[in-house]
Amino acid sequence: MSGFERLRKATPDDLGFILALEANPANEYVHSYSEVQHSANLEKGTVHYFIAEDKTGEPLGFAILFDDGPGRIEWRRIIVDAPGMGVGQKFMRAVIDYFRESGVKSIWLDVYEINARARHVYRAMGFKETGQRPLASNSDITLMIMELTLV
Ligand SMILES: CC(C)(COP(=O)(O)OP(=O)(O)OC[C@H]1O[C@@H](n2cnc3c(N)ncnc32)[C@H](O)[C@@H]1OP(=O)(O)O)[C@@H](O)C(=O)NCCC(=O)NCCS
Repeated sequence: MSGFERLRKATPDDLGFILALEANPANEYVHSYSEVQHSANLEKGTVHYFIAEDKTGEPLGFAILFDDGPGRIEWRRIIVDAPGMGVGQKFMRAVIDYFRESGVKSIWLDVYEINARARHVYRAMGFKETGQRPLASNSDITLMIMELTLV
């Protein structure tokens, strides 16, 4: 495996890779979908699945984003297979550039307060913390809400 080379849209053939990353106990701060939910999402024009690839075409990670009104996107999920090697930041930049070029004005997300690595990466991408709320299923867990304005 080498570094991030490009992104591409995901297809149903990527679901095995996506489900395996979601099921990895290392990704404890990330929620998951069933295969049926992912398949339904992939059919929708309002949900965007991306795969990060290295130069040989090996998948390195995935991202899922949802349309959330005119010019606005929710970044719902991102996981890379080998964290801490620079893939996530390059992948995020490529996804953000894709939406900027599509005319999107803002991207928001929420992240577990205790997920320090992800919060660091989001701040490095330019996301600002705009609020917080408890996780619906466990009020002991705080989610930080972050927003990126695209120019
Ligand atoms: C979040 C994620 C996508 C980021 O991708 P990544 O490839 O690990 O990110 P990078 O290697 O590009 O950058 C990691 C940065 O975090 C920093 N970092 C690592 N551990 C950290 C910690 N515990 N606290 C704060 N910063 C940390 C690194 O120093 C690096 O920053 P730098 O470039 O300024 O030195 C990835 O870590 C991941 O898949 N995590 C598991 C799933 C997850 O948490 N997803 C987000 C859910 S909201």
